[in-house]
Amino acid sequence: MYVCVCFGVTDKQVKQVVAEGATDLKTLQAKLNVGTQCGKCIKTTLEIMQQQLDVT
Ligand code: FES
Repeated sequence: MYVCVCFGVTDKQVKQVVAEGATDLKTLQAKLNVGTQCGKCIKTTLEIMQQQLDVT
């Protein structure tokens, strides 16, 4: 599913970047641009990141 419509970022991409070691929003933004336009996706992005951090 798309998390960030502005940049077409999917939950899979967010999970992948977290699996590669990202632990904060800044890193995700640097890699995917997620949340850097309208910002509506930031809450969901953080939730997905937290879920991924909880399972790893
Ligand atoms: Fe992600 Fe707009 S939906 S910045």
